[in-house]
Amino acid sequence: MEPFVRFHDQHPPAAAVSLSEELLAGLASTPKFTSPKFLYDRRGSELFDAICRQPEYYPTRTEEAILSAATAEIAEVVGPHAALIELGSGASRKVRLLLEALRPACYLGVDISRDFLLESTRQLASDYPWLEVHAACADFTCPMAWPEGFGGERPVAFFPGSSIGNFTPDEAEGFLRGLAELLPVGGGLLIGVDLIKDRAVLDAAYNDAAGVTAAFNLNLLERLRHEFDADVEPRHFSHRAFYNERDSRIEMHLVSRCDQSIRVAGERIRFTEGESLHTENSYKYSIDGFQCLAACAGFEPRAQWTDPDALFCIHYLERGG
Ligand code: AVJ
Repeated sequence: MEPFVRFHDQHPPAAAVSLSEELLAGLASTPKFTSPKFLYDRRGSELFDAICRQPEYYPTRTEEAILSAATAEIAEVVGPHAALIELGSGASRKVRLLLEALRPACYLGVDISRDFLLESTRQLASDYPWLEVHAACADFTCPMAWPEGFGGERPVAFFPGSSIGNFTPDEAEGFLRGLAELLPVGGGLLIGVDLIKDRAVLDAAYNDAAGVTAAFNLNLLERLRHEFDADVEPRHFSHRAFYNERDSRIEMHLVSRCDQSIRVAGERIRFTEGESLHTENSYKYSIDGFQCLAACAGFEPRAQWTDPDALFCIHYLERGG
């Protein structure tokens, strides 16, 4: 039997400004920057998956180890029959670690990438025949509504991977507030957040010896060539990632190796030697720091789990009354 997924197309609206306008605005700024989303084209997503398998990149395997070790405790605080919502569900891989113990009433995967979403939720429905599976094609960073026919007494959002770290703290708070407003009092949020730690560990995680993170960063320039008609030479830039302690964030940059002028989407962009293009931020939080931010957004901490080396944290929070 064909696995059955209830599919809700929420038609993520085309951006108010076009992608190329957004790109050019960042390139015309001082200092130059691009939104991290430009890193995640098809090749970028494949490279990101490869990053997750690098020995220096601890977040993925640490989060999975925490989830595996804590499933019974997580199931206990979350309670049975939750309506589980995974934000940016992608391959729906991590949620599998929870389903047997959690026994949710239903599952909703939310992702902007429609084909990927359909493929992975169909697989989930076939692997967990007892689970009512829904899929919503939507941009979860924009206000959304629960799709019709999806519900249960207690919605619980699942947001793994420290994806929250791509937002600035202000944006993260705004995002969490929007999420809190979608949840009833007592609704939950299970969220993975990377912890502040020794800078050597952080620097290594974003400068893996195999050069996969460098390839991921430089792939942005390939994307500019293919999608934005750029005449840029990727070898004229180098990858740079470092921990900015003052702002508790990893910064990723592409640094120009020479004076150069490149054409992007019909505009000329000049780089001086050593000038950098800021391509991504990855914010890190202490356990308290994150709980404070979440409290400002309307969430009360209920429990958290970390690994023995305190590299990563999974929080369970509830929308307060
Ligand atoms: C997907 C944003 C969680 O910040 O660790 C990994 C992205 N960039 N290596 C992270 C990333 C370079 C990743 N997030």
